[in-house]
Amino acid sequence: MLFREEYIRLSLELNLFFGRIAKEHSIFIETSFTGKDQNLAREADSLKVQFETLLSEAISLANGAVSQETLNAQEFITPHTLDAERVSQLYTWVPINSSLTQAEAGLAGNGGMVYSPALKQRVFMLNQKAVILTTALLNFKTRILNNVLACKLFTTNYPLLLDHIIREAKFYLKALNKLQNREDAGNARDLLEQEVFWNRIMAEHSFFIRGLLDPTENELISTANDLGEEFNKLTRKAIAATEQTALLPGVTAET
Ligand SMILES: [Fe+2]
Repeated sequence: MLFREEYIRLSLELNLFFGRIAKEHSIFIETSFTGKDQNLAREADSLKVQFETLLSEAISLANGAVSQETLNAQEFITPHTLDAERVSQLYTWVPINSSLTQAEAGLAGNGGMVYSPALKQRVFMLNQKAVILTTALLNFKTRILNNVLACKLFTTNYPLLLDHIIREAKFYLKALNKLQNREDAGNARDLLEQEVFWNRIMAEHSFFIRGLLDPTENELISTANDLGEEFNKLTRKAIAATEQTALLPGVTAET
């Protein structure tokens, strides 16, 4: 059971982290179509705009309410985010609202803030909006993947990337639902599941980079490949640890 303080802080941190990821996924999708499927590109752009609105609301609620530790860990933006947005907009012509990134750079941590019931109510509503929007994005991604697999649609995104971003959307939804039920996700089994999830995700990021490099870039291809294999090893270790935990008394084997 989460107390009000934890519920507010964890919700805002989750929405800052995944709201940005969801908006960036919408941009990956938007830029992946040919001229033939510009209706789908517009649908992706509309989702991007809706996630920007959600992110903007999360940022305004988060000032002084998220932990300084999480801000310091650069979980929401990195020193490269603004530049990455600038060049992405320059090459793709997809408008990217960089004022959100600037606002995030100015966020303050929660040095002794008292969380009010009114803030809790606003965070509850924010989470509800995030559930609705993430479900819409998940359905959109699934429709695209199904059409690609049925050879009805061409996109420059790998099918594995579509599957990957579908898993990330499901993870966001599951975390939102847990928060709305005030469930604590910090036991050993939850943490191990997250370890497996993120190690697999990181391995795939490395393999996406490997696949997007020019075939002459042998050294970079091998660096990306080695990183992916390293994360695969960590995934296998985390799976083994999860299986051991499942044997402990009082811990369920449900995933
Ligand atoms: Fe990812």
